[in-house]
Amino acid sequence: MDFELKTLTSPRICTEKCDALIVLLSGETPGGADPVSKMAAHAISAGDFDGKAGKLLNAYRVQGVAATRVLLAGAGDGSAKSIRSAVHAAMGALKNTNARRVLISFCALSTVGQDAVRAGVLACADATYLYSTTKSKPAEQKLKQVVVAVSTLASARAGFDKAVGLAKGMALTKEWANRPANHATPTMLAQAAKELGKLPKIKVEVLGPKEVAKLGMGSFMAVAQGSEEPLRFIVLRYDGGAKAEAPVVLVGKGITFDTGGISIKPAAEMDEMKYDMGGAASVLGTFRTLAELQPALNVVGLIPACENMPDGRSVKPGDVVTSMSGQTIEILNTDAEGRLVLCDALTYAERFKPRAVVDIATLTGACVIALGGVRSGMFSSDDALAQSLAVAGDSSLDLCWRMPLDDDYADGLKTHFADVANVAGRAGGAITAAKFLQRFAGKFAWAHLDIAGTAWKSGAAKGATGRPVPLLVDFLLSQVLPARTAKSPARTRSPKPASRTRA
Ligand code: BES
Ligand code: MN
Ligand code: ZN
Repeated sequence: MDFELKTLTSPRICTEKCDALIVLLSGETPGGADPVSKMAAHAISAGDFDGKAGKLLNAYRVQGVAATRVLLAGAGDGSAKSIRSAVHAAMGALKNTNARRVLISFCALSTVGQDAVRAGVLACADATYLYSTTKSKPAEQKLKQVVVAVSTLASARAGFDKAVGLAKGMALTKEWANRPANHATPTMLAQAAKELGKLPKIKVEVLGPKEVAKLGMGSFMAVAQGSEEPLRFIVLRYDGGAKAEAPVVLVGKGITFDTGGISIKPAAEMDEMKYDMGGAASVLGTFRTLAELQPALNVVGLIPACENMPDGRSVKPGDVVTSMSGQTIEILNTDAEGRLVLCDALTYAERFKPRAVVDIATLTGACVIALGGVRSGMFSSDDALAQSLAVAGDSSLDLCWRMPLDDDYADGLKTHFADVANVAGRAGGAITAAKFLQRFAGKFAWAHLDIAGTAWKSGAAKGATGRPVPLLVDFLLSQVLPARTAKSPARTRSPKPASRTRA
């Protein structure tokens, strides 16, 4: 998809040649004398259009308008969330049309923030995403070009650029999470990471079974041992900051298929366990976006990738393994494998002396029960980090919700036969999983995102969502330190002059 940002006035929008013109409107009667403003004014006064978010009025070959179709799209209060539902509804209405060039106009809205522009572009990218990798005759994407029209570029530019970068990252995340497991093996996932290594400031290193054994990742290896596919440990680096600057580390769960192992899952919907590398896919997507946006910070991505399979060589319930940290783990349930691959990756993260480590994982069915598909579960031992992630979730409309980590939740992980068991009871399953991980994250500020409910949609619109790439990217951008040049000294040392605080 080709996105373009233009400054246009309301009358100019009417003369812009395109197949469909989507006009975002709040419900206030537009004052203009151009045909679209007049049409909107009529519709509002007749009560046929009220500007409520997501409401549509669809017109064809309107006199004086160059576009074939005009869609008035209710943008409610003009917030990012309202813009998202407006564009989502409008793109839905264009789904089975031949529209090749679409113009989305923000010009009739009184205030247009960067988050609103981003939401509009991302809703458009989401609506037009097509999975095609394993189809013999892929459906053609008719829509080729989307023009975003605003009356002033001021804040629109930043939101637009961010959205275009995010759209590329999210498309990559969706692609890999959607791929069937035989088209997304650990080796193929590592190859996808290596492709990212060709982009500016990104370096990739891939470790195989021998190197992982040498590191002593006995927990990760235990999960992989039942599969014919060799494991991969993927290390990505984005070096956009100063050399000495401590990186943020992202750790993505990369189970390319989760059968449950010997504690095998029921057959129904097991196919969906191909997205059990959704955390890994979100790390890849985030790196793709970093390559576009080029922020001044250092980021490390770690992906333990393997299959979880039942086999003569599989790890068995009751087996005790030694993790890279030295802690021994009793594997009571081989289906609680995500935490077993993540714990060794968390220990590996120590070597980067990170500012913060965030792991992202389709970790528990319990999190789906707790929060559904609206908010990712967020766990953190660090209040400042938790706050940054919550704020990033809000601003990007990629929401999360902080969950508790009281030590009492870890009681069920006690066992006579090892330092820790990999499961507790059914109660509070998302939290006990996080408590397990926390044991391996004591040496840095740490947060865990359980994306089991948010990375994937079941039902009719079955497929990957591209989440939580928007959250991660906003979080990372919030971690960029203010530049300390001679001309603009560090903010902390020079309080802002009073006259500027109200600017
Ligand atoms: N990958 C699953 C979690 C999952 C479930 C993700 C549903 C997406 C949708 C994970 O490896 C798993 O199997 N977790 C178990 C843990 C249990 C054995 C303690 C679960 O949630 O049932
Ligand atoms: Mn599992
Ligand atoms: Zn899993």
